[in-house]
Formats: sequence, structure tokens, C-alpha cells
Amino acid sequence: MRVYDIIEKKKLGEVLTDKEIAFVVEGYTDGSIPDYQMSALLMAIYFQGMNDKETALLTECMAKSGEMLDLSAIEGIKVDKHSTGGVGDTTTIVLAPLVAAADVPVAKMSGRGLGHTGGTIDKLESFPGFKVELPIEGFIENVNKHGVAVVGQTGNLAPADKKIYALRDVTATVDNVSLIAASIMSKKIAAGSNAIVLDVKCGSGAFMKTLEDAKKLGDAMVRIGKEVGRNTIAVVTDMNQPLGNAIGNSLEIMEAIDTLKGNGPRDLTELTHTLAANMFVLAGRVATVEEGLSLAAELIESGKAMDKLREWVASQGGDACSVDDYSLLPAAAKQMDVVLEETGYVAAIDTEMIGKAALVLGAGRENKESIIDLGVGLIMHKKIGDKVTKGDVVATLYYSDNSHTEAAIRYIKDAYTFSTESIEKPQLIYTIIR
Ligand code: URA
Ligand code: CA
Repeated sequence: MRVYDIIEKKKLGEVLTDKEIAFVVEGYTDGSIPDYQMSALLMAIYFQGMNDKETALLTECMAKSGEMLDLSAIEGIKVDKHSTGGVGDTTTIVLAPLVAAADVPVAKMSGRGLGHTGGTIDKLESFPGFKVELPIEGFIENVNKHGVAVVGQTGNLAPADKKIYALRDVTATVDNVSLIAASIMSKKIAAGSNAIVLDVKCGSGAFMKTLEDAKKLGDAMVRIGKEVGRNTIAVVTDMNQPLGNAIGNSLEIMEAIDTLKGNGPRDLTELTHTLAANMFVLAGRVATVEEGLSLAAELIESGKAMDKLREWVASQGGDACSVDDYSLLPAAAKQMDVVLEETGYVAAIDTEMIGKAALVLGAGRENKESIIDLGVGLIMHKKIGDKVTKGDVVATLYYSDNSHTEAAIRYIKDAYTFSTESIEKPQLIYTIIR
């Protein structure tokens, strides 16, 4: 088999066989196929596309390129949740204890933040002492004992994706639905769960800017899931503004705890309950999404979700008292209100810019070596549809030193667009693809 012929075939729009796809993925991962040939093939795929079968085969080959986690030692149906990424997205920290409180096992690997998006693993480190690295045996043991464990991704999950993604990043071949779907699903499949709930974000803060593209991506991932025998659903949700009000690591932890107490922001509450309800259905815990929603509400109401949060934090070495006493969490030394000189209704918020405001304050990483300041970030007081009168506080900055507050304020001011006419609050959940 020659890579040249495979590139030629795809260039002409033909369908690749399973052997050809396996040959390419294995060859590129082990270094026998050079970057230039893989680049050419990726560009051919970009223009000619791949059918469902090819996409599923590519996904499986990438998943199998490294370690495939075996979670069979954990009893029950393991349901994973994955978000395609956004700003202020605190859902995992609400969902993990909420779902585990229903006796549905949560065995989750999460990532750190990069650029303007935050990462669950960084946020969890806000709990003093919380360990995000567990050996695989400890990870499984914690899930069996406490029903929940969330850890950082291990080094050798889908290495083919890691390499291909890095190449796509520099060859303008990231934004292809088949390639994104295969990339995300390969990691989810390698992570070992039986079923997957995807939160596909759509809007100014997301990868997919339009609903049409987000639906296409969700649809492609659901079809891959079916093709490889992992029950998958995709919830397409709004990311035209940050989720909740808090952006920044310990600020988001407090927001997640508030939500587990039933006092969270409306959007974060709606999203986490919807995702939990769908996870309960996939796990066979309830028969319908409606029952799942009632169960989620009941676990919040009874305090069982909060009990599970305390148990989970302690089980990974964290200080469970910090769940009830926010003064034990990292905090920024200073606060500053951001006031706008406009009057009107918030019509749009450039979500990426809000993410950048938090980033420059130190809540995120400019590069892999940056050190995060867990206490800093911002709280938004005005979101789309809200009325703002000149002099109103739209956001509060939490910061440690003054050197970047000016830049953060600039970003926030630039992020807001106003209208003189009233604006409807955007829908949060657009559609669910099954
Ligand atoms: N996230 C991924 O993991 N892969 C992609 O290709 C795009 C987003
Ligand atoms: Ca938030």
C-alpha cells in the first residue's frame, strides 16, 4: 500500500477502505508517513469529505492508537459528558456530583484550559488539596467507592489524534466536520464509557459559530457513536454569551456550588439539569427525560447532590470544608466594578472577548507554561436582553495586581453591543440530536 495512491484516491473523491484508513493512521502515528503526505491527505479530506463509514473508521483507528481505558471493573452503565468548549462553562463540576448522587457512576477525564476557554481540571484545583492526577487503579477504585472521580487526561489516550490535531492546526484543516467529530469521539471512545452525552456549543464563544454547523457536528458525532456501538446524544446549546455569571477558576467553583444548592444562575441550572436528565436516561436510571429532570431537581432539593460534592472533594484529597466555607477557596486581593457609559438593552456579547478579559487577569493560560491565578476572573451582571442604564455596573473584576485591569476593561467594553429596542433573552438549548 502506498500513501501516494491513498492521497490520489481521496483527491478524486473516492471512498477509502478500512485497510487504507488504518494504514494511514498507524503510519502517521509511528512516524513512517511524513507530515507532508499527511497534510496533503487532510486537505483532500477537507475538500472531498468522508462518508459516515469512513469517519467512524478513522475515529476507531485514532481511538485504538493508544491506551483504551477499560472501565469494566466499574459496575453500571458509564456515561461520559463532553463539551466542545466555551467560556465560563462550569457544567462538569455541577454534573459530576449531581449524576453520582443518582447512583450513576461518573468516571471522567477532563482537560485544562488553553487560550480564552477554561478547563475543568484547573477549576477543580481551586479546592485546597484536590488531586487531579490519580493512577488508573485509584481512579477506578474512587468511582467504585464514591460513585465519582474526575481526573486529568492520561498521556497516552488517542496519540494519533494528538499528532493529527497538531498538524491540522498549522495546515488550515481544523474546520472540517468529519475531522472534528473523529477527533473528539476518538478521545471519548478511548476513555472507556458506554454512552456519551455531547454538549455542542454554538455561537460567538464556540468553535461552531452557526446553529447549522453545530447541528452538523452534533449529527456527525451521534452517527459515529452509533457506528461504534456507544449510545451517543448531542445537546446543541447557546454560547453567544458566557454560561452563568462567573468566569475564572474559584469564582466558577462557587457558582457551581451555588447551583448544586439550587441558587445558581438560570442558564447554568437549566443546562446542568438537562444534561443530567439525559445522562440518567442513557444510564437506564430513568425511562424519560422528564423523569430525569424531576430526579435532578429532587437531588438538589434534598441536599443529596451537595452531600455527594463534599464526599467527592474529600475523596480526591480536597478540603471538604471549602464547599461550605468559600473563604477557604483561593480569592483575588482586589475587586473593581466595570461601568459602561451606554444606555440600552444588551443585544450581543462577544464571548471570546469576555474570555480574554478573564485570561489577561490571569485566569487562563497564554501558553502551556503560564501559571494560573485561581482566584482571579470576573462576574458578569448584565447579559443579553438585560437593560443597562448609563452608570450601571456590567461586570466586576477580581484581580491581584493592576497591570492588566485596563486591558480587561477594554475587552469587556468592546464585547458589549447595545440596542435601543428591547431584546429577547436567547434560547439556551436549541435541539437534542439522538
Ligand atoms: N476539539 C477537538 O478535540 N478536536 C477538534 O478537532 C476540534 C475541537
Ligand atoms: Ca460560569
